[in-house]
Amino acid sequence: MTVTASAPGKAILFGEHAVVYGKPAIAVAVDKRARVTINEGTTDHIQLKIPELDVYASINIDNGSITQLTISGEVEENPGTFDAGIMQYIKCALFQGELDSPLDHGLDIEVELEIPIGGGLGSSAAITVATLAARARYQEQELSLENLAHIAHQVELEVQGAASPLDTTVSTHGGLVYFTPHRGAVNIKTALEIPLVVGYTSQPGNTGILVAEVRKLRQAHPTIIDPILEVMEEITNQARECITRGDQKRVGELMNINQGLLDSLGVNTLELSRLVYQARLAGAAGSKITGAGGGGSIIAYCPGKTREVLEELDSIENAFQVGISTRGVTW
Ligand code: PMV
Repeated sequence: MTVTASAPGKAILFGEHAVVYGKPAIAVAVDKRARVTINEGTTDHIQLKIPELDVYASINIDNGSITQLTISGEVEENPGTFDAGIMQYIKCALFQGELDSPLDHGLDIEVELEIPIGGGLGSSAAITVATLAARARYQEQELSLENLAHIAHQVELEVQGAASPLDTTVSTHGGLVYFTPHRGAVNIKTALEIPLVVGYTSQPGNTGILVAEVRKLRQAHPTIIDPILEVMEEITNQARECITRGDQKRVGELMNINQGLLDSLGVNTLELSRLVYQARLAGAAGSKITGAGGGGSIIAYCPGKTREVLEELDSIENAFQVGISTRGVTW
């Protein structure tokens, strides 16, 4: 039996970091996905392939230990540096006890990725959501979208230590959403065109570390950082209104103000800053870090200037256009 599930990445337009402290955020599911295919195992292990990352591995289903393999599936005699990060999400999703039946036989799993890893585009959430969906399908279990999003968030918490449910919610449900940790996601209805370009610094950011650094800064300067988080909340709320009524100019201005505040939280880098300013010089209405920062990506909102911004950012780093995906997880 073969089953496939896929889930989209996401881009945060407003409110990252503030969302960790219960504030709202606005995010979109993007038209770049993670696709997970499960086949009945050819061994009593889980054989995992992620060709885009050159990751080939075997997971022991009794004790969870991971062995690096060659491309043809033999044990790698000279294991080199091996990025096991993304495998922790897959392993944790496969072994997650909240799904009923535990795995009792091997599986062959292939993950196809259109989303850069550590690029601030929710690759880990998309992989986790797609893995859980494929596993539920393979084991013929009913799983509601709410439950899937909830379990995926537990996986993110277990693997990365700190995470709001934003990424896993958007990856599960799709669309353009206003999100609060306590109330979940509400779709934003808009006639506004939202042409977006992502500029990727090629330096993966580490969400867990960045979230911990902002927490330390807040502990050291509570009377300064708390008002910044409150202004971020106000920006996100005003942005929701501007997107709904189609006010392009103010949406861009609010992104730029949000960027200044992210800088004040210490999550900006020289490379991110450069992309942010080059996007604006090329005509973006607004540009800012998307996701945790410290590396990763920026997002530029470019009505009427997509080609110019894309060309400019691509001449510096990797850049690509992203569309909004109304499709969340499919399986
Ligand atoms: O970098 P990403 O895509 O993992 O986004 C992180 C967003 C934060 O608000 C910084 C953390 C979170 O869990 O919401």
